[in-house]
Amino acid sequence: MNKITVLAGLQWGDEGKGKIVDVLSPQYDVVARYQGGANAGHTLVFNGKKYVLHLIPSGIFTDGVICIIGNGTVIDPEALIEEMELVTSEKIELGGRLFISKDAHLILPYHKIIDAINETGKNKIGTTRKGIGPSYFDKYARRGIKIQDIMHPDLLKEKVKNNLNYLKRIFPESDELNDMSGDDTCNELLIRYEKIKSYITDTQILLNNFIEEGRNILLEGAQGALLDIDFGTYPYITSSHPTSGGACIGTGISPNKITNVVGIFKAYTTRVGEGPFVTELFDDEGKLIAERGSEFGATTGRPRRCGWLDLTALKYTCKINGVTELVMTKSDVLDVFPEISVCTKYIFNEKEIKDFTTDCEILKSVKPSYIKFKGWNTDLSRLSDYDSLPDNYKIYVKFIEEYTGCKISYISTGPSREQIIRKN
Ligand code: IMP
Repeated sequence: MNKITVLAGLQWGDEGKGKIVDVLSPQYDVVARYQGGANAGHTLVFNGKKYVLHLIPSGIFTDGVICIIGNGTVIDPEALIEEMELVTSEKIELGGRLFISKDAHLILPYHKIIDAINETGKNKIGTTRKGIGPSYFDKYARRGIKIQDIMHPDLLKEKVKNNLNYLKRIFPESDELNDMSGDDTCNELLIRYEKIKSYITDTQILLNNFIEEGRNILLEGAQGALLDIDFGTYPYITSSHPTSGGACIGTGISPNKITNVVGIFKAYTTRVGEGPFVTELFDDEGKLIAERGSEFGATTGRPRRCGWLDLTALKYTCKINGVTELVMTKSDVLDVFPEISVCTKYIFNEKEIKDFTTDCEILKSVKPSYIKFKGWNTDLSRLSDYDSLPDNYKIYVKFIEEYTGCKISYISTGPSREQIIRKN
């Protein structure tokens, strides 16, 4: 039976999904992105070179793997073309390898302006300012513009003009919006369309045909479960469904076709932007994690907030994603710590809370309750098989597996493609 795997982040994004997709890609014929847009920053390192992908699936650097940008994503043509140029500059032919859903919604220049305006108020989310929220906002308000709308230029112009006029009425003080013309916006879009049109297709049909042909498909999530619009720390979330359920909606592959769910987590926790973060560290330990883990946003360059692993949250995200196997990344960052803490429950008004909650008012006030593990004091990045790992490390791994009820199948021990240990 062919494998239809969802790969999803289990924290607040930046778990190292790009690298793991790159490592797993040789086992698959097709890799598809199902949500988000160029807010994602998926980093891959091989042959001593680093690449950051934002929209194109991380399977693109594996020979022959077909890459699909699914209907659930939001596409900024400018960012997409830039990325296509980066990939082709590496002598990768995109024809027959890249397919873009005609049903994906567009991010237009005014979406980025609105994103920036929204971020100036007191209800700031700390977004990537890539226009993600405003594009999904239009989608659900039923005035969004799909890729396929570009094929009908007159209708496209009418829709863009209506949307712009509406925005100008809501934000009359925005010079940037007022200076924007519907005709210019459409003309720019039509020029960009020429560069992408040969890749556009009905990807839901294509993917289902691939399934019938017996091909293996990897569905690549962006961001993480705690940023999910329903299951995350609302309103400090992204505007899509990074959780495994989003993979069906965002590709047109039905739930009964999914064979397994790979959940990725870092051995500690990070978060970019605003919102509660129970295990956040404000001391030298937090600084050391940030330094050793190079914790700066791959898309925005912003410093990431760092803290200990939160198993209360991880257990929850394993459940809502239906995780069948775990991949742990970046535990090598903890190599030098004499003691490693793991949060197993929260304390709220002197009472224990064992389950994660999406209620940010509660999350803001709970205190983490930690279990401490002895450090392993070993350079993990040099090791390549599970048996050679230090005992203290194996104790840490076993505890995580028992607590979450999910087995770890791979351990990533560094940024490079080669730094990976198969566990089971
Ligand atoms: P947006 O997705 O740009 O609207 O940002 C909403 C929230 O999601 C902000 O807190 C961002 O920092 C966060 N976010 C979006 N994309 C990523 C990502 O790829 N990694 C980590 N955080 C992200």
